[in-house]
Formats: sequence, C-alpha cells, structure tokens
Amino acid sequence: MNSIFNKKSLRLFGGLLSGSLACVNPSFAKEGMKVPPTVVQSQRDIIAAGLEIPVETLYNTDGSGINNAVVIFGRGCTGEIISGQGLLLTNHHCGYGTVQGLATTQNDYFANGFWAMNNVQELPCPGLTVTFIRVMEDVTKRILTGLTDEMRDGERDSIISVRIKNLEKGFRFLYKKDAAIKSFANGNQYWAIISDTYKDIRLVGFPPNGIGAFGGDTDNWSWPRHTGDFSMFRVYADAKNNPAEYNPNNKPYQSKEFLTINTNGYKEGDFTLVYGFPGVTQEYVSSMQLEQVVNIIDPIRIEARTKRLNVWTDYMHQDRNVFLKYTSKRAGVANGWKKWQGEVMGLKRNNAVEKKIIAEHQFQDWANSSPDAPLYAKDLLAKIQVKSASRDAIIATNEYIREAVLGIEIIGLGAELDKILDVMDANLNPQISKDSIAKIVKNTASFYKNYDAKTDQSIFSALMPLFIEKAKNFVPAYYRSELARFGGSYQDWADYVYSNSIATKADNLTSLTRSQIINDPVWKLYDAISTLRNEKIIPALSSFNDSLARFNRLYMKSQMLKSKYQDLYPDANSTLRIAYGKVKGIDPEGSSGYAFQTNLDEAVTKHNPDVAEFTLPAKLLNLHKEKDYGRWAVNGTVPIAFIADNHTSGGNSGSPVLNAKGELIGTNFDRVWEGTMSDYNFDDRWCRNISLDVRYTLFIIDKLGGAGWLLKEMRFAPAASKK
Ligand code: ARG
Ligand code: GLU
Repeated sequence: MNSIFNKKSLRLFGGLLSGSLACVNPSFAKEGMKVPPTVVQSQRDIIAAGLEIPVETLYNTDGSGINNAVVIFGRGCTGEIISGQGLLLTNHHCGYGTVQGLATTQNDYFANGFWAMNNVQELPCPGLTVTFIRVMEDVTKRILTGLTDEMRDGERDSIISVRIKNLEKGFRFLYKKDAAIKSFANGNQYWAIISDTYKDIRLVGFPPNGIGAFGGDTDNWSWPRHTGDFSMFRVYADAKNNPAEYNPNNKPYQSKEFLTINTNGYKEGDFTLVYGFPGVTQEYVSSMQLEQVVNIIDPIRIEARTKRLNVWTDYMHQDRNVFLKYTSKRAGVANGWKKWQGEVMGLKRNNAVEKKIIAEHQFQDWANSSPDAPLYAKDLLAKIQVKSASRDAIIATNEYIREAVLGIEIIGLGAELDKILDVMDANLNPQISKDSIAKIVKNTASFYKNYDAKTDQSIFSALMPLFIEKAKNFVPAYYRSELARFGGSYQDWADYVYSNSIATKADNLTSLTRSQIINDPVWKLYDAISTLRNEKIIPALSSFNDSLARFNRLYMKSQMLKSKYQDLYPDANSTLRIAYGKVKGIDPEGSSGYAFQTNLDEAVTKHNPDVAEFTLPAKLLNLHKEKDYGRWAVNGTVPIAFIADNHTSGGNSGSPVLNAKGELIGTNFDRVWEGTMSDYNFDDRWCRNISLDVRYTLFIIDKLGGAGWLLKEMRFAPAASKK
C-alpha cells in the first residue's frame, strides 16, 4: 500500500468496500460545465439527453449563436438578452446593489418596485456593465508549446505571462474587441475570450422585495421556493451600436441574437440547459484537500458565523435601527453560512472523501504500472499529502483570523487607524498629510453608517474566546496578556475596549494624535493580528499554495491523460459554460412531498403580514383573490419556480434556462442546500438548481407592474397545449 494512505483513510476505505459498491463509480452523466465551443465534440451526449436544435446554434463565431444572448451582468452574475432592443433579464438579487444606489426614501424601489413605462423612464445605472462573449478560442498550444513539466515554476510563469500579453494584443488588433486569455484546468488549458463590454445600462423593471426577495434568508438555498427573483435592464449603445459610456443620446442596443420565450411549460423529465458564468468549482482536488474543506475550513466558518448571526439577530430584533444597519450584511454572512452547512452535510453523506481515496488508489495503480503514465505521476499524491498535512494548523488559524477576529468589525477598522499612522510617519508636507488623513477618515463613513458599537461589543465577547481557545500557539502575546489583565473575563475585556477606544465613533477620527493611535486598544488588537498574518500566516499559506498549484496542475494533467480526456471538463472559473440536465423533483417518490414546481397559491399560503420576509404586496394578493392571471394562468394558478439537475454554481445566478429547442423557460437563481456540495462533488441524486418560471416573470411584469409594453418587443414560441 502506498504511503499516502494513512490509517484513517484505510479504515474508511475498508468500510466502504464492505458497504455498497454502487456508490464507488459516481455517474458523470449529468455532471459538467462545458466550454461552449467544446460541446460539439461530444454532441452525441447532449442530443441523447434531449437537445433538439443543432449544437452549432448554441455557440458559433459568426454572430448568430446563442452565446451572443448570454452576458456577464455586473460583477459575478449572468443575464440574458430577451429582445432585439437590448432588453436584459437577470435576478432580483443580482440587480439589488445597483438598485440600492438608485433608491431613496421618496423612491423606495424595494418597497414599491420600479417599472419604466417607456425608454425615457429607464434609469441609468452608473458603474454597471454587461459583457458579451463573441469568440472563445483554444490557445493552449500557443501558450504551452516548448514548456516542460520539469521547468522551474518562475521561469515557466514568466514565459507564459509574456505569451499571454502578446497574444491578447494580437487578438485585440484582429477583432477590434476586448481580449483576455484565461487559464483553465489548473493551467493545462488556455482559452482566448473575445468580448464586448457595454457601459450604459439602464434599469427597466424591479419587483418589490415582497416578490423579488420573498422568503428572504429563511428560504434562501431551500426548496420549495416562491421567490420572484428577477429584474430587468436594458443595454444602450452609441450610434454605431458599439459600447460607450453613458450618454442621454445613446440608443437601445440592437441585439441580433436574443432568446425566444416559451410559455408552454415543461414537465418532469424534460431537457433543460443552463447557459452562464459559474464562478468556482473544484471537482478534481485530492482527498487531502477535500478533507480540509470538510473537517477544517467549512466547520470553522460555520461555527464562527453561527455565533455572529445569533448576536446580530438578537440586536436586530430589539432595535429597528440596528436592523436597518445590519440587514444587508446579515444576508451576505448568512448566505455562505447556509451553503457551507449543506456542503459539509452533502459531502459527508455522499462519502465524497472516501470516494476520492478510492479513485486515488486507482490513480496510483495507473501511475505505477501504465505505460501512458508520466514519471512524475508516481509520487504526486504522496507529495500533495505531505504538503497538505503540514498546513492544517495554518489553514485553521487563517480561518479563525478571518471569521472570528475580523468578524469583530471594530478590529477591521484598525486597518484605517493604521493607514492614518502610516501617513503621520511618512513625514509628508503638512497639507498633503492633512488631506490624506481627511480622505481616509472620509472613506470610513460607509463603515459607520452600518455600524452599531453595542452590537459589536457583544460580537467581541462571542468571537474572541473562539479565536483564543482554538488558535492556540498562534494567539499573539498581546491578546493573552490583555485577557489575563481582565482576569480571564471576555466581558470585562470587551467593556474596556469599547469604552476606551477612539474607533467606536466616527467623530473621534477627525483629529487624532500619533500617541492616541498607538495607545488605542483597537489599533493594538489590529496591529498584533496583522503582524501575525504578515509574518507567519501569509508566507506559509503562499508557499503552500505555490507548491500545491504546481502539484495540482500535474495532477490534473495526469487525470486528463488517464481518462483519455473523456468526461473531463475544466472546473468553473467565471467563464461562459453550458450545463444540461432535466427537470426533476427531489425524491419525487419519497414521503417528503417535494415536487418539481411551485405556484402562487402556495406563496399566498406562506404570506404573513407580521414577517417582512414573507409579506406579499397587497396588489399581488388582490390579483390572486380575483384570479386575475390573464394569459399566465396554468391550472387555475401561476407557476413560480422549478428545479432541475443542472450542474450550476455561484455566478450562475440570472442564467437563462433553455428547453430542448433553445427557448427560454426560466431564470436560474439558486440551488437546494442539500446539494451545494456540487462545487466539489456533483451528484444528481441531491443536486438541484432552482429557476424562476418565465411565466411568473411575465405575469409580474404584465399584471403587477403594468409594464405590458415590454412584452411587445419579446419573441414568443407558438402556443401549444399547456403542460
Ligand atoms: N443563494 C443565492 C446565491 O447564492 C441567493 C442569495 C441572495 N438571497 C438571499 N436571501 N440572501 O446567490
Ligand atoms: N445565488 C447564486 C448566485 O448568485 C447562485 C446559486 C448557486 O450558488 O448555485 O450566483
């Protein structure tokens, strides 16, 4: 037996073998996020799965492919073009930040929604961009030719970065468009991405939170779901239809390619395809790294966030002011918290680590005996094992610092005090120094706007013990001596910090002296932790990550060789991908009663005027009472959301969900938390993406928003008998 398999792994390995063998070979049938130009190579699979249009329709470079209707929306979401006039559909939560910038107490779009009734009323959104992907070209050979696996990393990296720069320049010149070359499959593939980024984007429609965020954090990552998670924008272009900065004279972008909408419905088992920009997946990592996610990283994050959320929730309940300051922060913290819980549960239930160990045994056999195996493959896993194991404590400490220490907001503010100190120590001209400090102080305004010191003091008492007890030898001497000074009482320590620090109030920052800063308890806490990070944690982590990046590149390369490139698709990296599967309930035969689709009647049952997250707008309740559904009625109600087994990830929010004919039937917005392990281990028994039914979107636009004028520019598939 190879040395990489420690006692624990062996025990698990034995246990699994005596159990069900059926689990050993995970089905790759539905897994995968394919790079669009590569789908044609395995087109038999997608046709067998149900696609009824030529594969070339999904992606081509002559401008007529569906790729021209799927866009990067803002930073990190997907959107789709649904008219010839640049009309764009994405999620409500993707437009949320932009709308926050446009909303005021007089124009509270979160409470009342927003609907433009013509082009003139559409609202410019400063800073928002939309990117179209025109061409993706495999440039692996051009980047990697002549490079060997034995080469030193530094040498290799510098050759690659020069080649990338030159190629990008060439592509920009050739296409007269933006060009970027991105690394795929841990540096084993490179693709050039030729794109257009439009910068004049305007808000067209935004349902009130009672629809667009219905169910809030409570229902987030959950099924059944009743959230109308959509918003609409329009792309504007200059007189030549090209990207331009905002200008009132710009015209709606003339989109040659846009999606046809199909409102005939779908049934369980129907083909679906999700086209979008998934962010990060790691399906090919070693069991050792996956173990660190399951046993170290995720549990620490969950534990620290549970404490943080409990305190926040308490204070938010007691004081509406605190609620308003913390609601958006809370949503972000809770989003990861819930996702990681699902991830750990799913990975454990699915024996994901053990399955990887089995696959690694097979890999080792292949490396030892196959003539195809490169020499370096033999001791690759052993090297990864050594590197991984020696870094457990560093990884854990890093997480405790990020989630526990920096979860105490005031300690993070110490960084600003530190910047002020740097300016003071730089011996600048007094006026320049004064201006620089004023600028730093001004930038803290957004922090204080959403900060409550009393709440944060309780967070200190809740999170500091976690760090001190768990980070052991790494705990800075200053932290230990302070705790001792207060006789081991975290409460007394917190009391001292929050009653003595200058950092709890914005006003205190305007006229500080050097000695005030260096004697301040918040600055001292910050200084000690950043010294720890800079001297011990970051150097160790980067050396770990550098070696692992090399091993992972070689491991990926040998996995590709071993599989003869079958069934292998590169991990998600925020580039355009295609995933396909079918409409499918969770455990539809089981007793849980999960269905594949939800509807308005169920949403109304959930309606609760006492809980903001579950309060439907009066107008919607009225439409329901009157059964005033117009052409959007299906079996006496309106469908809201559906689930399918497409392989998606964060970044796929807002992605178009297409039927077998390539027509739009929904907009992706979430996954079920039981299946969030799919970022490491997709399994169609539990992994489901959640999509908004396009008929609910249209019903809300038409009947609730009264913005029926938008329907006229859309293209609809001919009506069929309703499913
Ligand atoms: N879980 C979804 C995602 O990861 C939706 C998040 C926004 N919704 C919320 N209730 N926080 O982005
Ligand atoms: N809500 C996620 C997003 O904004 C998509 C859900 C997921 O992670 O699959 O990207």
